[in-house]
Amino acid sequence: MSQLTDGFGRSFPYLRLSLTEACNFRCSYCLPDGYHADGRPRFLAVDEIARLVRAFATLGMHKIRLTGGEPSLRRDLTRIIATVARVPGIRKVAITTNGTRLPRYLPDWYQAGLTALNVSVDSLQRERFHAITGHDRLPEVLEGIAMAQALGLQSVKLNAVLLRDRNDDELPAWMEFLRERALSVRFIELMRTGDNGDYFQRHHLRADVLVEQLQAAGWSLRPRAADAGPAREYVHPAYRGSIGIIAPYSRDFCAGCNRLRVTARGDLRLCLFGDFGVALRPLLQSDADHDALLARITTQLGLKAAGHGLHQGRTGLTPHLASIGG
Ligand code: GTP
Ligand code: 5AD
Ligand code: SF4
Repeated sequence: MSQLTDGFGRSFPYLRLSLTEACNFRCSYCLPDGYHADGRPRFLAVDEIARLVRAFATLGMHKIRLTGGEPSLRRDLTRIIATVARVPGIRKVAITTNGTRLPRYLPDWYQAGLTALNVSVDSLQRERFHAITGHDRLPEVLEGIAMAQALGLQSVKLNAVLLRDRNDDELPAWMEFLRERALSVRFIELMRTGDNGDYFQRHHLRADVLVEQLQAAGWSLRPRAADAGPAREYVHPAYRGSIGIIAPYSRDFCAGCNRLRVTARGDLRLCLFGDFGVALRPLLQSDADHDALLARITTQLGLKAAGHGLHQGRTGLTPHLASIGG
């Protein structure tokens, strides 16, 4: 029975754990030019991660998504996946990655217990992909996605951040891509963070424009599963894949919130746009602190707010999503 329930009746079976703030991409909407992750930060070590995940699993959490920055920059990623997958109660181990290291490492991650994969692909056009991410690596990313499908991972989802005048004309190309591929592609509304204000003004676009195009082309909304994430999924009988819309600027988005976050340095964050985090790391140094850790997590959960307030113009202190794991 999950003890992770907040004051608004929401429960939290899902933890997003960031493994690093560093990234080998420089996506224009995320990391500003010239950004460097601080010096040589000590991100959570495998032992600390094991204690953390055991605590959340004791409280009823069963899905962990490893995020970043770019989680594959951690040399010990395969060990982390294996460690998390072995924790009693954990049923899903997922990762969100930019995909560049999939061709080399995916078989190892899969062997270690990875069950689900989300990959960022902001454009299907090579030059645009290069311009948005700062790196000309679309071919490897697509190769990695094909590999994931061939291996038979339980779930493979792609993410494209919807950007006015950058990639907002690609829905027809994505539909073709999905005709024979059993994947979900999710379009994400650009979120305003502490660092991307000007970019947001220029490129934010409401996802409603895509919903209209989908409906006109005969795609229909799939009924929401009880444990569904933030995406509303559209399907069409002539296509094997589905199209999701992640629209945090819509008013009821947070009512279905089912996830908590821990940063790469071990701070519990109750919301992507929340203003504070509470340090769990001091309680990750010894098994003797297990009960104190459980108490700190459940006490904090009681403070989770109803929603993010983005549609009221709030930004929160999150400088960019790489600092918190998206
Ligand atoms: P699954 O449901 O497990 O597939 O996860 P997901 O779709 O939430 O994961 P992913 O890491 O692929 O994130 C996709 C996008 O959704 C990213 O831009 C995230 O920042 C965003 N996102 C995920 N969870 C939340 C949330 O709770 N609030 C907001 N505002 N955005 C979120
Ligand atoms: N708004 C929306 N999505 C973002 N991502 C990173 N920054 C933003 C933002 N400001 C996306 C990445 C990745 C996912 C984890 O979050 O493209 O797909
Ligand atoms: Fe949950 Fe905060 Fe995301 Fe809303 S913005 S869905 S409350 S994490």
